[in-house]
Amino acid sequence: MPSFVRPDLLAFQAYSANPHTDAPDVPLDRLDTNECPYDLPESVKQAIAKTYIEQIETNRYPDGSHAALKAEIARYVNESAGIESNSESVTPENISVGNGSDELIRSVLIATCLGRPSSILVASPTFSMYGILAKTLGVNTIEVARREADWSIDPDAANLAIATATRDGQPVRAIFVVHPNSPTANALTAEEIAWLETVPDDILVIVDEAYYEFSRHTLVGRQRDNWVVTRTFSKALRLAAHRVGYAVAAPETIAIFEKIRLPYNLPSTAQAAALTGLAHRRELLTVIDKILGERDRLVAAFARLPALKQWASQANFIYLRAAGEAIDLAKLASDLRSRGTLIRYTGGGLRVSIGTPAENTRTLANFQALLDCVAG
Ligand SMILES: Cc1ncc(COP(=O)(O)O)c(C=O)c1O
Repeated sequence: MPSFVRPDLLAFQAYSANPHTDAPDVPLDRLDTNECPYDLPESVKQAIAKTYIEQIETNRYPDGSHAALKAEIARYVNESAGIESNSESVTPENISVGNGSDELIRSVLIATCLGRPSSILVASPTFSMYGILAKTLGVNTIEVARREADWSIDPDAANLAIATATRDGQPVRAIFVVHPNSPTANALTAEEIAWLETVPDDILVIVDEAYYEFSRHTLVGRQRDNWVVTRTFSKALRLAAHRVGYAVAAPETIAIFEKIRLPYNLPSTAQAAALTGLAHRRELLTVIDKILGERDRLVAAFARLPALKQWASQANFIYLRAAGEAIDLAKLASDLRSRGTLIRYTGGGLRVSIGTPAENTRTLANFQALLDCVAG
C-alpha cells in the first residue's frame, strides 16, 4: 500500500453505495435506500429537460451562489414550518445548498472539528454516514446507545459522554440527531428536544430532517443559534439522482458553510431539477399519503409475523428485529436479496423502505416464505 496514504485510511471500509450490481436475475424491489418508489412524472421531467435545452449554457459554470434555488428553498421551508413572512422568516441567508445533504454533513465536520482535538456525538443505531465521513477526516466519533423501547436518546447518557470526551481531551464539537431517525424511524421526543435546548453554545447540533415530508414535523422555527437543520431533495421530492440537500441555520453558521464548500458544488442541471421539483411540489408530494397508507399495510402484515418485532414509524421505512434468538437477520436479508427483495441489514435490525403496492406485496410474500422455512 502506498506510503503517502494516511495509515488510518488503509483499513477503512468505504460506504457501499448501490450494492445491487451482483443481484440475481429476477426483478429487483429496491427497498434498501429509503427513496420515494415513484419516478418523477413525465411532465416534470419534460420541464427539467426544457430548462436544460433553453436556459443552461453547458460551456458555462453553474450559478455558484445558488441564488434562485436558495430563494425557493426559503419559501418552501417557511411554508413547511408554517412561518408567515415576517422577521422570523427563513431567508436565503439562512440557507446553504449541498451536493446532497451528505456534503453538508462533511461541511459541519470541517467547520467544527478539523485541525483540533474533537469528537462528534451520535446515538446508535443511526445514519452511518456521520461516522464514515468523520473517519475520512480523522475525527473521533462517540456513540451512545439509544433506548430500545422507543429508540430515544437518554439525555443523561449523552451528557455523560460529552463530559467524558472533554475530560479525555477530545471535546464534542457537534451532535448529530435525525428527526425521524434512520434506521429506527422514530421522531425526536419532547424530552430529547428539551435536552437539545440545553446543549451549550460551543457545540453545534445538527437536526437531520431527511424524512421531514413523511413525518410532517420540523424543528425549523424552534431553532437555537447553535442548531442546523438539514434536509434533502433525495427522498419525498424524488430527486435522488440529482444530489441536492440544504441546511437551514443562523446566517453566521451558513456563512461558514459557504466558505467551506466547493465553489461549483451543484451542477446547473441539479439546480434546475430542484427548482422544478419545488415548483411542482404539491403534485410531487401527493404520493406521500399513498406511501403512508402502504406503511400501515406493511405494519399490519409484519405484526402477523411473530418471529419479528417492530417499532412505530414516522418515516417511509420500518425497522424490524428478531422477536427471539431464532432468526439470523443478516442471513434473512441475504435470502430476501436472492429472491429480489433488497432491504438493509443495519444496526442489528432490518430496515425496510416502503415501496409501491406491488413491491410491498412481493416483499411480504418473500418474508412470509422465508420465515415459514425457519419455523418449519
Ligand atoms: C438520515 C439521512 N440523512 C441524510 C441522507 C443523505 O441524503 P442526501 O441524498 O441528500 O445526501 C440520508 C440518506 O439516506 C439519510 O438517511
